[in-house]
Amino acid sequence: MLRVVVCVSGGGTNLQAILDAIDAGKVTNAQVVAVISNNPGVKALTRAENHGIPGICISPKDYESRAVYNQALTDIISEQDPDLIVLAGFLVKIPEQMVAKFSNRIVNIHPSLIPAFCGVGYYGLKVHEKVLERGAKITGATVHFVNEGMDEGPIIAQKAVAVEDGDTPEVLQRRVMEQAEWILLPGAIDDIANGRIEVVDNKVRRIK
Ligand code: GAR
Repeated sequence: MLRVVVCVSGGGTNLQAILDAIDAGKVTNAQVVAVISNNPGVKALTRAENHGIPGICISPKDYESRAVYNQALTDIISEQDPDLIVLAGFLVKIPEQMVAKFSNRIVNIHPSLIPAFCGVGYYGLKVHEKVLERGAKITGATVHFVNEGMDEGPIIAQKAVAVEDGDTPEVLQRRVMEQAEWILLPGAIDDIANGRIEVVDNKVRRIK
């Protein structure tokens, strides 16, 4: 059984999608053992609590420096003995020591088709604002392994979503979540939990 730690910062709809998929048997061989948030009082922590899963808040504001916070975050996550760390809307740059310790065991969901609309400054609603500003006709979501770069690790899965005339960032965000994120992320966890994918030469491939 894969021990999964989910890291969140806000609403936690992707966390909910993971929990629902596990409950429905669409994700097998995986259990969420803890939810980590960098923000206190967020809805994602309530979702964890409602599911009987320990929710832990670790905020940078409570630490004297980013370096001290980074080590504390790495330690708290390590204490959960995770096989997989899922960044489900976790808007904290993952510390280098954590990436090194959990190589190819951290996955992130990003609300665009990487390498478009990603990198520093592209997160949450901002991504959809930029897509609309640029007039792109297709967007989507990407699940990828996390490396030292920002949104640069090996891509596990992607799904395209249409941009429609009159979309607001909020409307587009919701469509990308419904049509892509809430499907892709549980699917990737299921693939990892059941040994269906591997990373070769910095690329993800399906094990035949
Ligand atoms: C999601 O759209 C996720 O893709 C995005 O934050 C949102 C969190 O929503 N993540 C990023 O932008 C990471 N760069 P949620 O809390 O409802 O799952």
